[in-house]
Amino acid sequence: MKAIVDPDLCIGCTLCVQICPSVFEMHDDKAFAYADPVPGSDIETCRDAARQCPVNAIILEE
Ligand code: F3S
Repeated sequence: MKAIVDPDLCIGCTLCVQICPSVFEMHDDKAFAYADPVPGSDIETCRDAARQCPVNAIILEE
């Protein structure tokens, strides 16, 4: 699975980094998914981060 943060949508709330720090990190004021592909052990927390993003900026590609 691949995770992509849409930088035009991300408002930099940092929630995804708090939920899943092994996949997401902040670059300046936007989140970036640095784990590519998302390791199997992080898929569920990554899905959780995508669900909880307040602006639905996280796109998951299976
Ligand atoms: Fe941005 Fe959503 Fe993460 S707003 S910082 S992608 S939770």
